[in-house]
Amino acid sequence: MPFSTAMPRVSIRRPEGRLGVLTPGLGAVATTFMAGAESIRRGYTQPIGSLTQMATIRLGKRTEQRSPLIRDFAPLAGLDDLVFGAWDPIPDDAYTAAKKAGVLVERDLEAVGDFLRGIRPMPAVFDSRYVTRITGENVKLGKTKRDLAEQLRQDIRDFRARNGCDRVVMVWCASTETYIKPGPQHATIEQFERAMERNDDAIAPSMLYAWAAIMEGVPFANGAPNLCVDTPALIDLANQRAVPISGKDFKTGQTWMKTVIAPGLKARMLGLAGWYSTNILGNRDGEVLDDPASFKTKEESKLSVLHTILQPEMYPALYRDFSHVVRINYYPPRGDNKEGWDNIDIIGWMGYPMQIKVNFLCRDSILAAPLVLDLALFSDFAQRAGMKGIQEWLSFYYKSPMAAAGLQPEHDLFIQQTKLKNTLRHLMGEEQITHLGLEYYAS
Ligand SMILES: NC(=O)c1ccc[n+]([C@@H]2O[C@H](COP(=O)([O-])OP(=O)(O)OC[C@H]3O[C@@H](n4cnc5c(N)ncnc54)[C@H](O)[C@@H]3O)[C@@H](O)[C@H]2O)c1
Repeated sequence: MPFSTAMPRVSIRRPEGRLGVLTPGLGAVATTFMAGAESIRRGYTQPIGSLTQMATIRLGKRTEQRSPLIRDFAPLAGLDDLVFGAWDPIPDDAYTAAKKAGVLVERDLEAVGDFLRGIRPMPAVFDSRYVTRITGENVKLGKTKRDLAEQLRQDIRDFRARNGCDRVVMVWCASTETYIKPGPQHATIEQFERAMERNDDAIAPSMLYAWAAIMEGVPFANGAPNLCVDTPALIDLANQRAVPISGKDFKTGQTWMKTVIAPGLKARMLGLAGWYSTNILGNRDGEVLDDPASFKTKEESKLSVLHTILQPEMYPALYRDFSHVVRINYYPPRGDNKEGWDNIDIIGWMGYPMQIKVNFLCRDSILAAPLVLDLALFSDFAQRAGMKGIQEWLSFYYKSPMAAAGLQPEHDLFIQQTKLKNTLRHLMGEEQITHLGLEYYAS
């Protein structure tokens, strides 16, 4: 692969050998990701929606005309080196799970059917009190949560050995768990581990996967809004063990649109009276989110976006007290093809009201799958570059990005994109791009 000849600012281990990608959850998103990755490897399709595969990065001055593909610039693992594994309480192999998820049509599934049938989920750490709408018999048994987490660590070691992996990353693609408030159990590593040992309810299965991953030196990315790895205890553990972590909640349909439109309104200093968002969604995720406790987790994640972008405290005349409503309605006939409506009441010159309506007919898992690929490759890259703890530069991928304590997360998609690309430039020893541009006009 033609990697950049730039001298990296930090020493970055080359991506030699195989990279294991483990997903807790083998549902719509995980199977669409795996089927797509294999279809790309076989040359049936293009990696549309993936920055690591399709995006370029400008280097140096505009006059230098240097814009390599990101994957030719940064030493990322190649698709051919990926090996996939998963856990799920439902024992279906990836082919059956993908068929049931109903995202991909028969022709696309059959083309990689042999590959998908070979991916069978390992028994999950699962408790239906945290995801009430799902039952499954493919689950681990253990006296304490710590025992269960130790079994996950063993799974990681076995997977690594069985597949001859040089490195492993984990991306949470399992259901959204019920809302858990951060408490003393999540404050320090010691308190967290004691809580695991006494089976404290504040320790959800997703936290056990995250703990196991970090203990095994495996970067962890959280695609759901669950608290999961976003606690002081697990952030400390990740820093101590030099493991990159990121989250929360893949930024795909409606929220992605919000983080495109809201910065536009703010850039023009247009006011906002209210933003009403509603969705109909008929996949299993929609069914899980039909439970108010799981929806509350999602709602928190979706609601945080507008306030941080619009900063009402700084612009009270424009954004004080705007109304923001988010609804998700489970409607089975629609399957994975979600339909989202946004009604945006905006305010212009002399206080005159205007409206924007967005009707987004999207495919949830088609939007999420390339994010799983990018997060897996970038998390692995971050680890080889010696990065650890919260990876703020991956905020681009998340609805509710993790940020250092006391720091507002960055939600604006374009700032996030700049941050991502500048981090790559920084790590690879290239100049930051400020877009100042005065040098082109100097006499
Ligand atoms: N598709 C999107 O656009 C999108 C966007 C943001 C977030 N997400 C999140 O991604 C996750 C996956 O979405 P999906 O559409 O694939 O859902 P899905 O219901 O199709 O798949 C989730 C799978 O996770 C399994 N699971 C539940 N608890 C588990 C556990 N403890 N361990 C292992 N597996 C477990 C379920 O059995 C199910 O097979 C959800 O949390 C969803 O909210 C999806």
